[in-house]
Amino acid sequence: MMIRLPPVWFVGCGNMAGALIAGWQKAEVDFTDCLAVRPSGRPVPGLRTLAHLPDEAAPERCLLGFKPQSLAAIAPELAPRLSERTVLVSMLAGVDAATLRNWFPNVEAVVRIMPNLPVSERDGVTGLYSADAAPDLRDRMAVLFGLIGKAIWLDSETELAAIGSLAGAGPAYVARFIAALAKAGVERGLDPAMADAIALETVLGTAAMAKARAENMDSIADRVASPNGTTEAGLRILDAELDHLIDQTLEAASRRGQELAEAARIDLTRPLA
Ligand SMILES: NC(=O)c1ccc[n+]([C@@H]2O[C@H](COP(=O)([O-])OP(=O)(O)OC[C@H]3O[C@@H](n4cnc5c(N)ncnc54)[C@H](OP(=O)(O)O)[C@@H]3O)[C@@H](O)[C@H]2O)c1
Repeated sequence: MMIRLPPVWFVGCGNMAGALIAGWQKAEVDFTDCLAVRPSGRPVPGLRTLAHLPDEAAPERCLLGFKPQSLAAIAPELAPRLSERTVLVSMLAGVDAATLRNWFPNVEAVVRIMPNLPVSERDGVTGLYSADAAPDLRDRMAVLFGLIGKAIWLDSETELAAIGSLAGAGPAYVARFIAALAKAGVERGLDPAMADAIALETVLGTAAMAKARAENMDSIADRVASPNGTTEAGLRILDAELDHLIDQTLEAASRRGQELAEAARIDLTRPLA
């Protein structure tokens, strides 16, 4: 089933918005009526790309894909170009729906999303939250984001933030883990390119096996580690640190999210001259 998007403005179209577009293009979504806005004007493949906001009829959807810190600079220029028939979709980490609603008082609905980069391969996770989207809009969003991975509507912004820490930022943490596995392989005499490939395949294979068998991670670890064997000796080192380390990692990211949210709220009090 080919989906033709209604008119959508992708305002800010870098890594994350580009990954969404790439995933939808793989799902044969039609972008004929869409455009991207980015100051560099660097063309986004398959979309009309502009360096400035257009003076055209308000779009049906406007997807914010810039950094949270840019909101105060962009919103005053963007808000008057949107209408009460525009759905505002924001991927800005940490910027809550109430703050967005204050910047964009006239839009039909505000939907926050928290996607992750693997959406480009149609294997991502996207959390969605809205305080004011109608059921029909929620269904259509679930279908659209379901084309590029798992799409999960959440009941609170706290859960959305948790998905952001886990799935949104997760690919960076998993990438570091794969790199650390490879480095340790090099330390033990493997050629670097071979170690990179083996570390990647090991993580991919483990994830694919867990998914195919619906097997939990403790069970997988148990099946690899025989009592008192080599893997168990390794796990003793890893287990002493890993849970705490990952918890602290997500905690630091979440603190930063709160700082960004706070900055967006403070900016709101500035005159919009
Ligand atoms: N990266 C992730 O994995 C991830 C995951 C979840 C959520 N997010 C969220 O996604 C957003 C974008 O992150 P990103 O990693 O994609 O950043 P990015 O690659 O730096 O992209 C930022 C985009 O914003 C554009 N931009 C800058 N100033 C602008 C302006 N005045 N008007 C319009 N566009 C402007 C940039 O234009 P140019 O291209 O011309 O430089 C660029 O396209 C952030 O709010 C982040 O919280 C990211």
